[in-house]
Amino acid sequence: MATILRYRPQHEKPSVWSVSVAFRNPKETDRQKLLKELLKDVGINKAFEYQTEGNGKPYILTEGRKMQISLSHTKDITVAAIHLKGRIGVDIEKCNRKVPAALQTRIISTESEKEIDTLTLWTIKEAFLKMTGTGLRTAMKDVKVISKGLNIFKVNGKNAEDEAMVYALRYREYRLAVAVEISKPD
Ligand SMILES: CC(C)(COP(=O)(O)OP(=O)(O)OC[C@H]1O[C@@H](n2cnc3c(N)ncnc32)[C@H](O)[C@@H]1OP(=O)(O)O)[C@@H](O)C(=O)NCCC(=O)NCCS
Repeated sequence: MATILRYRPQHEKPSVWSVSVAFRNPKETDRQKLLKELLKDVGINKAFEYQTEGNGKPYILTEGRKMQISLSHTKDITVAAIHLKGRIGVDIEKCNRKVPAALQTRIISTESEKEIDTLTLWTIKEAFLKMTGTGLRTAMKDVKVISKGLNIFKVNGKNAEDEAMVYALRYREYRLAVAVEISKPD
């Protein structure tokens, strides 16, 4: 059985988005089981289908309704996230992962980003690019990160519609970032 942990900022409405982290079994975490738990956490107890867009971005279908999800893995852990009102992206990395100096210069796009720890900045930008669906096809320099308080960042891409709040979380020896699209009014 995977150990499932949940993260959800207290100021967010409980049923809009949710993130679960599962420790992998010695072999493979059961993705279906993890996604089922995640759906249950946002109040949906229905059968679903896992699918991907042409660019590899995953989503799920339940009774014809498309819901945005995101997944990230390390050797030991899988993280999955769902957002009912918009796009979502997650990234998880082990804290001791080094970002080579040459790469740092390819990541940082503004003076204020230099204040952010490099691995945190990396996870924020990767989570954001998974939210948009382009992944690393888009240069990290084209993503701008502004700190909005402890572990909360506002992130913008080149396209005006690509805008998210990113939550930088820490669990044991892992850092994870969750990019949540800023919800448009219904
Ligand atoms: C998406 C991407 C950032 C994933 O990064 P990663 O460090 O390899 O892996 P992670 O564990 O964080 O994420 C893997 C998950 O990303 C998801 N994913 C794949 N393509 C995606 C996309 N275009 N958008 C959002 N999510 C995507 C999948 O759910 C995958 O999970 P799975 O292996 O269970 O199917 C990276 O693979 C990428 O940029 N791909 C698109 C461009 C490309 O293929 N580039 C080659 C290298 S530059």
